[in-house]
Amino acid sequence: MTSLFFPPSCHPTRVSIIGAGKVGGTLAQRIAESNVANVVLLDVVEGLPQGVALDLMQAGSVEGHDRKIQGTNDYADTAGSDVVVITAGRPRTPGMSRSDLIETNAPIVAKAAAEAMAYSPDAVFLIVTNPLDVMTYIAWQVTKLAPFRIMGMAGVLDSARFQTFIAMELNVSVADVSATVMGSHGDLMVPLPRYSTVNGIPITELLDEATIHRLIDRTRNGGAEIVGLLKTGGAYYAPASSIRMMVESILLNRRRLLPTSAYLQGEYGMKDIFLGVPCWLGCRGVERVLELPLTDDERHALETCAASVREGIEKADSILASTAGLKF
Ligand code: LAC
Repeated sequence: MTSLFFPPSCHPTRVSIIGAGKVGGTLAQRIAESNVANVVLLDVVEGLPQGVALDLMQAGSVEGHDRKIQGTNDYADTAGSDVVVITAGRPRTPGMSRSDLIETNAPIVAKAAAEAMAYSPDAVFLIVTNPLDVMTYIAWQVTKLAPFRIMGMAGVLDSARFQTFIAMELNVSVADVSATVMGSHGDLMVPLPRYSTVNGIPITELLDEATIHRLIDRTRNGGAEIVGLLKTGGAYYAPASSIRMMVESILLNRRRLLPTSAYLQGEYGMKDIFLGVPCWLGCRGVERVLELPLTDDERHALETCAASVREGIEKADSILASTAGLKF
């Protein structure tokens, strides 16, 4: 009789996604189908994560991956995650700005971060809930994680939107377009044409100023344009793709240089704030923040973003201070 030997150290990589809405569900699909990790999908709504997970497992038999996707309402099932992604919270409806969501989403993110942290103290945390830079700060306060182990996703998405609009305008392959967007995830974001290229050629050499400004405006309103069209929620395909790229860089230690909402400790002359800056992402999380040389105008635009994020943090902190049962 053959005896099978199962090594005791077999521990498949695990990503937990908190929030099984459109972004969370699509992210689970992207991660499983790119074979990056097993997924635990958690939501407070009973049946929702279980239903989405079962559907995705059945798709796996056709897509040909063996990744496990588990739906749950219990944080204990997320234990030992390598990466925790928090997408829980309300999306915008037409006419709302991302900062209108602070009151609703701050308590949701604070609770989700605390619960997930209790079961996965060694995970890298990636925050997606809006307003992104404020919610990342809240999650950091709650988890007390080393700053390099917690970050927010927005810059990859904003850059993806800018890249798309540049490629559409020039009628070239988007594969050749690389764009950089810094700052906060909102109307004040700072797209950087000087650092945005088509195969190495800055777009300032390929497009006139008025066209570049039109594309920047469309990028700044990229999320709102979709909210306006969908009417019942926000974008989720491009956000999920953007998160997947960051998760993959972390889990596979690829050290990709990606715009990330990272904790600043003097970089760009700022401290004690999460703001979108180019970072190398590897197995420890934010491996390094890149300090790009900026013009006075660009630096001023970044400082304006920081001021608005600080305002949001103050508002969120006072909401949390008055929310019963949420003392960390
Ligand atoms: C957006 C959301 C994710 O920009 O903020 O679509």
